[in-house]
Parts: sequence; structure tokens; C-alpha cells
Amino acid sequence: MNQQIQKQALLDALYSPYKNCVMCPLGSLGRTNIVFGEGNPDAQLLLIGEGPGKNEDALARPFIGRSGQLLTKALNALEIHRDDIYITNIVKCRPPNNRAPLTNEVATCTSLLLEKQIKIIQPRAICTLGSSATNTLLKTMTPITKIRGTIQTYQSTPLIPTYHPAYILRNPKELVKLTQDLEKALKIVTQQI
Ligand code: URA
Repeated sequence: MNQQIQKQALLDALYSPYKNCVMCPLGSLGRTNIVFGEGNPDAQLLLIGEGPGKNEDALARPFIGRSGQLLTKALNALEIHRDDIYITNIVKCRPPNNRAPLTNEVATCTSLLLEKQIKIIQPRAICTLGSSATNTLLKTMTPITKIRGTIQTYQSTPLIPTYHPAYILRNPKELVKLTQDLEKALKIVTQQI
């Protein structure tokens, strides 16, 4: 618990100077809220998505729209509860019209926030949701269809790339792969792999 309190204090201190961040263009392109991330600051499993959508922007919470609801269901089916893990995105502000975040936006936001969040949380495993998050953390261009199903590493932490839940909404047959990947991440954190 003590560790949890200490890490939350570090996350709060990290976020504090950026509450009105305009360090990249997304800060001035119509975002309502910064979506810093939520969950257990001492989580063993860290999920990283692309960026907030409309619902996330409105409520300042990651993955609460349709794709978030699918993700929550997939997690709960494995008895993983959102309160026990930490969920964030590579960029913390909603890109206009749900476009993908641009290279300079990702570079700025990840160096100011995401990389430091990971250092504070020190998860046992990271799961990247979709190609933007995967390519950013692994500095690769490998298509997500090729790289999912593998175990990669980010600065010596196991990283499991998987599909973005929005892709699963469009391709429901692929839900089984998202579930398998989340299960693999769970096995890593519970040291069954
Ligand atoms: N898509 C993402 O990548 N992140 C969210 O928080 C919501 C939708």
C-alpha cells in the first residue's frame, strides 16, 4: 500500500506541471481534458493505447467509450479488473476528428509523460493496444498483424503487442486473439511464463 501511495504521489507530481499542457499542437486543437491515465499506480500490468477519443476527452478517463467497454469486458472475462492495472495512452490529448497522433505529438508526449509514467509504475508487463502504441514503444514499423502473438521487450520489461479494441469492434472474430494476448500478459505478471 505504501508503495502505491508513493507511486501515486510521483505520478501526481509528474502530471502537475502539464495540467494545461500546450507542449505539442494537440494542446491547442480542441481538446477538453488531458487524459493522463488511471488505475493502480503500482500495477503489475500496464496497458497503453493510442490516444483519447470523444468520450475519454469529455470525462478525462482512458478507454471508456465503445472500444473501452469492449476492453473492460475482455479484461473482466480473465478476472483482470481495471482498478488493479494501469491504463494510459501514448498521447494524452484527443487528436482532432480521431485522426492518429502525428510523429511530433507522440515524440513530445511520450518523452514528457509516458516514459516517466512507465519508470514510476515499473510494471512487470506492458501490453500495447494497436499499431500506434506498439510502433512507438518498440520503435518499429512492423505491422500489428505480424507482431501480435509475440513477446517483445521495452527496456527489459516484457511487452505484448496486441490489437486495438477498436479493431476488434470492426473485426469481432479477432476478439479471441486480444483475449489470448491479455492472458499471456497475465501469465507473465503472475510468473506462469
Ligand atoms: N482509444 C485509445 O487508443 N485510447 C482511449 O483511451 C480510447 C480509445
